[in-house]
Amino acid sequence: MRAAVNTSYGPPEVVTLADVQKPVPGEQEVLIKVYAATVNRTDCAFRSAEYIASRLFSGLFKPKNHILGNEFAGQVEAVGGGVTQFAVGDMVFGYNDQQFGAHAEYLTMPEQGCLSTMPAGLTYEQAAPLCEGGHYALCDIRAAKVKAGQHVLVYGATGAIGSAAVQLLRHFGASVTAVCDTRNVELVKSLGAHTVIDYTRADYTQAGQTYDFVFDTVGKSSFGQARKVLGPQGIYISTELGKRFENIFYALNAPFSRGPKVLFPIPSMSQADVVLFRELVESRQYRALIDRRYPLEQIVEAYRYVETRQKIGNVVITFS
Ligand SMILES: NC(=O)c1ccc[n+]([C@@H]2O[C@H](COP(=O)([O-])OP(=O)(O)OC[C@H]3O[C@@H](n4cnc5c(N)ncnc54)[C@H](OP(=O)(O)O)[C@@H]3O)[C@@H](O)[C@H]2O)c1
Repeated sequence: MRAAVNTSYGPPEVVTLADVQKPVPGEQEVLIKVYAATVNRTDCAFRSAEYIASRLFSGLFKPKNHILGNEFAGQVEAVGGGVTQFAVGDMVFGYNDQQFGAHAEYLTMPEQGCLSTMPAGLTYEQAAPLCEGGHYALCDIRAAKVKAGQHVLVYGATGAIGSAAVQLLRHFGASVTAVCDTRNVELVKSLGAHTVIDYTRADYTQAGQTYDFVFDTVGKSSFGQARKVLGPQGIYISTELGKRFENIFYALNAPFSRGPKVLFPIPSMSQADVVLFRELVESRQYRALIDRRYPLEQIVEAYRYVETRQKIGNVVITFS
């Protein structure tokens, strides 16, 4: 089968197309023919090993997983003898940031992994980007223990995480203020934000509103700025480590400090979360924004675009 392979860490050009062995499903696994996947910031981080600490998971000197791609949509082509939940022909989508493998024509997934049948009426391209940004958003919203009626500010509401966060916060009943660029104000309103602040024209810390939770989904703000608008029990979470890893230090100090706190949750995802995303899509409360599509053959271009840090939502990889 064809796959995008990287056997060393480095820039997008370390990824090349190759013919590799088609995987065989184990007893409790399904074999999926991939029709769509994404290139996202998690793939970029694992490919570049930009943060040296990430090599503890991905391989110290060279990558353990030669095929990246952590979210996908496709069709079940074969199932192991012990599989009961999925059958040949099922259209499925899911997430795997342990083994990756979705930048290939086929991948295997454990039956109990982050896998679900696709939401009714969605195309493979629409289903593939539902999980990566969504699961980071969900994990952080849960960590902040957001309750209905609370005021939440989402900084960077047009990224994969930010656009998912706006929609999930609406689902949980929060009052959502979203921060984005002028050209995306209407888009972010369409995701359900109650108030939109254009960061090119206004500073969210001067808007006269306080928040229970400031969720910096692109790491472009800081706790120092956010604390000006957080209430005494307020929470700040960033998807980035911050200047000189400050968010880690603030989070470690949080149990001993008074006033607004920084949390740095470790992301995780379960099959129930994938099912939740399916249900939210079917009840029209959640969708994944798609910016660009690239065929597998142009995956290096896709990486380059994602690394501009300007993508709106998600970048999808298509398979012929
Ligand atoms: N280390 C990892 O494994 C890992 C994994 C996933 C995510 N992350 C981190 O999580 C963050 C979000 O990832 P993502 O995929 O959701 O983001 P993304 O899609 O790459 O974010 C791009 C978005 O950020 C917005 N943006 C850029 N500069 C901004 C600014 N100054 N103020 C507000 N918005 C700005 C852009 O919108 P405008 O055009 O409107 O500015 C664009 O829509 C990234 O920082 C990423 O590094 C890390």
